[in-house]
Amino acid sequence: MVRIGILGTAAIARAFFGTPLQHAVFDAVASRSHAKAVEFARNHGIPRAYGSYEDLLADRAIDAVYIPLPQFLHCTYTEKAAAAGKHVLVEKPAAPTVAEVERMIAACRHHGVVFMEAFMYRFKTIHHRVRDLVTAGSFGPIRYVDFNWCFNIHALRRSAFRLDPAAGGGALNDLGIYGVDFLRFLGLPEPEVVHAHVTRDQADGVDMFAHVTLTAGSTLMALTSGFTCDANYYALAGERGSAFVPGSLSGRMVANTLTTHFFAKDTRQVENFPVENPYAAEVEHFAQCILHGTAPDPGGEGSLANIRVLEAIRQAAGMKG
Ligand SMILES: NC(=O)c1ccc[n+]([C@@H]2O[C@H](COP(=O)([O-])OP(=O)(O)OC[C@H]3O[C@@H](n4cnc5c(N)ncnc54)[C@H](OP(=O)(O)O)[C@@H]3O)[C@@H](O)[C@H]2O)c1
Repeated sequence: MVRIGILGTAAIARAFFGTPLQHAVFDAVASRSHAKAVEFARNHGIPRAYGSYEDLLADRAIDAVYIPLPQFLHCTYTEKAAAAGKHVLVEKPAAPTVAEVERMIAACRHHGVVFMEAFMYRFKTIHHRVRDLVTAGSFGPIRYVDFNWCFNIHALRRSAFRLDPAAGGGALNDLGIYGVDFLRFLGLPEPEVVHAHVTRDQADGVDMFAHVTLTAGSTLMALTSGFTCDANYYALAGERGSAFVPGSLSGRMVANTLTTHFFAKDTRQVENFPVENPYAAEVEHFAQCILHGTAPDPGGEGSLANIRVLEAIRQAAGMKG
């Protein structure tokens, strides 16, 4: 059993509870406010609560940490956790810059602990089914991926760090990164940026909307991410058929649907996927890697490559800050 501590009483950390875990247990939580830590611990049945992240890192009973802090703190606390001998599951994006992700991977390697970025969508059955169809060649060579994840940040009242450039905010870091990682998940070649259109809320503000064209080998991707509208779907098309997956990119506990269409015989099929908790599956995978000494999927090299692509997108769009 891997004993995990949570750094911060983040909204997203609540998603890990309610589904029984077999190989991991959340054994402690830390907050900048002791009262908040105590309340979070009480609400989720966690035995120990700390009033500082450093106090949790000093807890010898903790094997690993889950880091759902704002992105500008991911590197600092990954390095501190690794130095304390704790394995690291860090929220996406791994960090706002390539340099920071390099430091995080190096620190975990140096201290012999697992580093894993928390891409919960990778633990949903529907996306595995799509990947299986792609790798089996069911659609033929994939020519086009249309990936679109946007939410209206003001309507959803998401935490303010997403609108702060200094905190690693912006729609690309928050949502666009999933599209970049999705190409990797499908096993397509490393993407290159062809064109990037980015809208900012002010000259030096975060990216509020981005529409990016990428190529991954002979596959073209249209990647859309934004805080100004509401969209959550992907579609992909190969030489022999296509797939459409709406509403499945978030970790919400909802049923999902995959529609495939093969034009030659005009066959269409709808596959339904029941509600599942991808966060529980994610933490189980992390724990299994620790227990068995196996490499996590996703691994650090993928995290690094994703942030390189995001930096290339910002450069192509003329964003400096
Ligand atoms: N995988 C997913 O599905 C998913 C979904 C949403 C978010 N995320 C990622 O998870 C991370 C957290 O997102 P969230 O929406 O859960 O954020 P959140 O609710 O605002 O939680 C962030 C936590 O970080 C701590 N913190 C420390 N310094 C802070 C600072 N200067 N400003 C704000 N918070 C600070 C706070 O905990 P204390 O006050 O208790 O110390 C806060 O509760 C981000 O990296 C985000 O990209 C992932």
